[in-house]
Amino acid sequence: MSFKIAVLVGSLRAESYNRRLARALIRLPVAQDHEFTFADIAALPLYNQDEDDDQPQAAKALKALVSGSDGVLFVTPEYNRSIPGVLKNAIDHGSRPYGKSCWTGKPAGIIGVSPGFSGTAMAQQHLRNVLAGLDVPTVGLPEAFMRWKDTLITPDGEIGDEAVEFLTRWMKAFLEFVEDHKAPS
Ligand code: FNR
Repeated sequence: MSFKIAVLVGSLRAESYNRRLARALIRLPVAQDHEFTFADIAALPLYNQDEDDDQPQAAKALKALVSGSDGVLFVTPEYNRSIPGVLKNAIDHGSRPYGKSCWTGKPAGIIGVSPGFSGTAMAQQHLRNVLAGLDVPTVGLPEAFMRWKDTLITPDGEIGDEAVEFLTRWMKAFLEFVEDHKAPS
């Protein structure tokens, strides 16, 4: 079965390690049968509840992408022991207006990479907390707290040898979770 997956990268940085990880993950052989689309969260203005009746175009686009997807892949850095504001802003946009959230019930995987030892662990825990409140089921295990090294991704944009087995297992678990939790078609 082939799934549509929305990908949210929590960094706007041009050379983002997390975007590089996301691009490499979707090139893994285990991901090849599926369609991954990156959400353009950079286009979103700051969320303003006054606009709930007439959401910005970028918010409508995000909601359409997520609503039309079977699952969501979050690939995020950790900023000051939490998720970056740009990612929270995107989640907030998608959650409103009240009762019209695009997130409800969408199975999600969470992964991230940092040059530091924490490997985004605290950001991931905060993200789980946010998603729980939006009724988004998240993959429990395996967790993936990746530490950036230049060998994590090859110059060609593939997952490097050291992590390919683990990340293939992680991606497989995510796709199985989507299969088990996606809305019936
Ligand atoms: C960071 N960084 C960081 N790293 C970490 O492991 N824990 C943290 O709490 C923080 N806090 C933090 C705050 C802010 C504002 C910035 C800009 C950076 C470092 C961060 O992991 C690093 O910049 C990564 O390269 C960011 O991910 P991308 O943009 O490469 O995907």
